[in-house]
Amino acid sequence: MAAEFKAPRGTFDVLPDQMPARRRLLETAARIFARAGYRGIITPDFEDTALFERGVGSSTDIVRKEMFTFEDKGERSLTLRPEGTAPICRAYVEHGMQKLPQPVKLSYSGPFFRHERPQAGRYRQFHQIGAEAIGSDSPLADVDVISLLGDLIEELGVPGAELRLGSLGSIEARKMYLEELKSHLRARSGELSDEVAERIEINPLRAFDSDHQGTKAVIADAPLLLDQLDEADAEHFAEVQQLLGAASIEFTIDSTLVRGLDYYTRTIFSFVCDRLGAQSEIGGGGRYDGLIGQLGGPDTPAVGWAAGIERILLALDEPVEPAGRDLFIAVAGESERRRAVALATELRRSGLSVEIDLAGRSMKGQLRQADRIGASHTLVFDDGGAVLRDMDRREQRRVEPSEVLGLLRPESA
Ligand code: HAM
Repeated sequence: MAAEFKAPRGTFDVLPDQMPARRRLLETAARIFARAGYRGIITPDFEDTALFERGVGSSTDIVRKEMFTFEDKGERSLTLRPEGTAPICRAYVEHGMQKLPQPVKLSYSGPFFRHERPQAGRYRQFHQIGAEAIGSDSPLADVDVISLLGDLIEELGVPGAELRLGSLGSIEARKMYLEELKSHLRARSGELSDEVAERIEINPLRAFDSDHQGTKAVIADAPLLLDQLDEADAEHFAEVQQLLGAASIEFTIDSTLVRGLDYYTRTIFSFVCDRLGAQSEIGGGGRYDGLIGQLGGPDTPAVGWAAGIERILLALDEPVEPAGRDLFIAVAGESERRRAVALATELRRSGLSVEIDLAGRSMKGQLRQADRIGASHTLVFDDGGAVLRDMDRREQRRVEPSEVLGLLRPESA
């Protein structure tokens, strides 16, 4: 029967078979965050629309065309969050976190929403994991956050990942550069793709992202921001590179690196993976020293990143074995059901993973089911008592139900 309803375009269901890989990712990340002192934070899945307009920037694709915005019953404009940094900065200011010892180091994961054209690795609801260090302008903070994502990629075993690094300098220096870039693009606008040509005035940096041949040729001779950093920004960038070296984190400098959000200053970075095709970025981020001030808070330097959970899983693309079960309890007849349910409950409370038959299967069917779920032992209740079968060794013996815990977990007996 064809399904009448399907998940909305650009969204997906995460099915039980896919959960072990996702859980492994989240558990690995939780360990990495905890050992570096990044504590978790959860913000709402929707926020005032103005937060993103002001925080992410009105010239970005995200704000111009990708937000899921709606009006609530009180006629307030709300938006399903397209990203997590502006909400976290909102929470930092709202809860007076500037009074805590700085920097405040935070980590998060959850769903995000962008109305993009769906394709492999690009969805309308996706999940990010991320970290932010708020309240330090030290290059050490840049390297601290970068090392977290580097470790995550390394410990998960993502093949072929590479770190690209750039700097956007300060907002003032960037303004001068953008004027220079615009006049370069204007002078050769006939060679640009329509999309880039139309956006010269709004977002000229996007030209660096284009795959269009003509645009690429124009960009090849464009002035580069990296060549025009002022002294303080250049020093900061040099120090980030030195410290990455000291931490043995490999990187390449990418003087054409740009990001799709307006709040970045100084360091920007991106972890890409050649396995991913067009949507090649696993995760990325950078400094956003002006964002908290822009949202009405005290001037506070900050740096962070987010990575796409689905992108990481796509890059890994190897099944994680589902966890087996300690025990399957099979019953020969109705009369053993009570004993089975009593024992299953007791053993689960002692920490064993235990399943019983819920489908009224025959004995043969129950044993097949025990095999299917990877139970290491099966306990069969019959008229004579109970038989414990070791499924790997294919050995069995009569036991008292009270002995089972001790036999399966000798240390807890
Ligand atoms: P972003 O580059 O927009 O940055 O997104 C971060 C990551 O989220 C991307 O590298 C990608 O892996 C994943 N991602 C983005 N859009 C989609 C999509 N439509 N489908 C699937 N995955 C996607 C940010 O969001 C910033 N808040 C990062 C940051 C944190 N910067 C500083 N702190």
